[in-house]
Amino acid sequence: MFDKKAKTSVPVNELIATRWSGRAYDSKRPVSADHIVALCEAARWAPSCYGDQPWSFIICNKNTDKSTWDMAFSCLSEGNQRWAKDAPVLILVIADSIFSHTGKTNRWGQYDSGAAAMNICIQATDMGLMVHQMGGFDSDQAGKKFSIPDQFTPMAMMAVGYQLPLDQIEGEVRDRETAGRVRHSLGNNFFDGKWGKPITGK
Ligand SMILES: Cc1cc2nc3c(=O)[nH]c(=O)nc-3n(C[C@H](O)[C@H](O)[C@H](O)COP(=O)(O)O)c2cc1C
Repeated sequence: MFDKKAKTSVPVNELIATRWSGRAYDSKRPVSADHIVALCEAARWAPSCYGDQPWSFIICNKNTDKSTWDMAFSCLSEGNQRWAKDAPVLILVIADSIFSHTGKTNRWGQYDSGAAAMNICIQATDMGLMVHQMGGFDSDQAGKKFSIPDQFTPMAMMAVGYQLPLDQIEGEVRDRETAGRVRHSLGNNFFDGKWGKPITGK
């Protein structure tokens, strides 16, 4: 990925700083089977409440199963379809709402599934891949099309692939892809011991 590293007040882990959500994918570069398994392994080893592993991921690889990829793509919002069309892999992230060991409500299922998805983002960054997560998709439609039982909630779609080299990105898309990254100031979201008291940052 080209460099859009997070500007942090103190150094942080290189992969965390490097990861970002681009939208210009190289449609001609498939993701290898080994890399896809590595993404799954990364998610598999995420922490979860009671070790319940409430996540499921449906991998839709355009290069090996176009009809499944098409089905995932058809669930995306129009805005996301515009750029995700070039991503060779789409991954549907699904959260279980019931603990498998007790049959009771698991109110951390979505939290844990997000953590597993983030492991995928970090692993992908380490392998030179780019991931862009999307909430802009029709969750109900995805549930129906992929025959997902009711207790499981489709949470997000992830676009995965290689970034198009910068010299091949033109016009508005190039402006968008090279725009700076922004975050709230540290004290806006991180509190020092009590609600609303900003942590001291640089
Ligand atoms: C749960 C979730 C849903 C998102 N939905 C979309 C989306 O539908 N379309 C999109 O272009 N980006 C989407 N994003 C990407 C965010 O806009 C992006 O992560 C954010 O602007 C921060 O940028 P960065 O990831 O490059 O640091 C989503 C991210 C997350 C985590």
